[in-house]
Amino acid sequence: MKVVSVVGARPQLVKLAPIAAAFAATEHEHVIVHTGQHYDVNLSDVFFSGLGIPNPDVHLGVGSGSHGVQTGAVLSAIDSVLADANPDWVLVYGDTNSTLAGAVAAVKQHLPIAHLEAGLRSFNRRMPEEHNRVLTDHAADLLLAPTAEAMANLAAEGLAARSVLVGDVMVDVCLSVRTSIEADPPASRQLPEGIDASQPHLVATLHRAENTDDAARLDSLLSALADLPVPVALLAHPRLVARAESFGLKLSRGALHVGAPVGYAAMVATVLGSAGVITDSGGLQKEAYLLERVCTTLRSETEWVETLAGGWNQLVHDPRSLTAEEWAAIATRPAPDGDRGLPFGDGKAAIRVVEELERRAGI
Ligand code: UD1
Repeated sequence: MKVVSVVGARPQLVKLAPIAAAFAATEHEHVIVHTGQHYDVNLSDVFFSGLGIPNPDVHLGVGSGSHGVQTGAVLSAIDSVLADANPDWVLVYGDTNSTLAGAVAAVKQHLPIAHLEAGLRSFNRRMPEEHNRVLTDHAADLLLAPTAEAMANLAAEGLAARSVLVGDVMVDVCLSVRTSIEADPPASRQLPEGIDASQPHLVATLHRAENTDDAARLDSLLSALADLPVPVALLAHPRLVARAESFGLKLSRGALHVGAPVGYAAMVATVLGSAGVITDSGGLQKEAYLLERVCTTLRSETEWVETLAGGWNQLVHDPRSLTAEEWAAIATRPAPDGDRGLPFGDGKAAIRVVEELERRAGI
């Protein structure tokens, strides 16, 4: 069996790691196509080196652009790559512009498509990721769902027959990296200047268009973070840095200490060393949950609704609608207790993905 994985953005590289490892243990041919959506070393290369992923077989080098330009550039560049490879499966990951472009290119060539992390929904049609997910799910032949909730969403859209619950590959990688870190703790952590690793602190990320692309909203979120009573390590995505600069907003202020994005193991170590997480990232909401840290999500909805159970994750769309005391109490709340079950699976999702692709090859 020959499988082409199409990846391009940071979270897809994390998901690729356990999939590439699962393929490496088989005789199958696994071809990695990197679209180049993310190109900064700390958004791309560090994941290949840090997670032991083989170098991409093909790099399309599309870079940044508006949604249409970026999606179109991938679509145009990947066409001949898929035609030449003629794989049994095109495997696309998550919900980025690279995901949608890979799926559209494949469906036009009648190549079977498998969508990893299928069935997630925010039900917010303003989000570019929601367009990408819905369109990719409806184009795909095999929907590899991470959770029971995702399976229910797919069934509600008439896609049950193409869907299978495999679990979340992020669990595979997160738990194995945590085990390595616990066995061999890093001598130091890559924290922004001004954060004392031995003192309670929070870790934050902010990169969603709905939070970064409106100057007033971005300023309000930054000032809410800056007012917290504990230091906050803000690991700033280049999109955040670019938008803040263009709006003339200062990122480092009050409790906020700004650093660069870090590789995967460093991120797991940072979350483990923190008292909690504040984010708008999907992946980080789940990593906080898996690493047993409370998460406050700066959005009005989440695709990962399982993280909300028991109060592990809490949605706060507008911290400024709360009093300073209420906001601080939420962001610094203690970890809940009680059994949480395994809503994201048992850490063996990648093996199941390969088995499903084998079983259904030639559909
Ligand atoms: C993309 C995904 C988002 C995912 C995120 C993870 C889409 C629509 N969005 O958002 O779902 O959660 O990746 O990080 O596909 N930039 C750089 N260097 C890079 C990449 C980007 O400086 O290597 C800057 C550029 O200013 C660029 C901006 O970040 O315009 C946005 O990058 P883009 O890939 O369009 O979207 P993300 O915000 O990263």
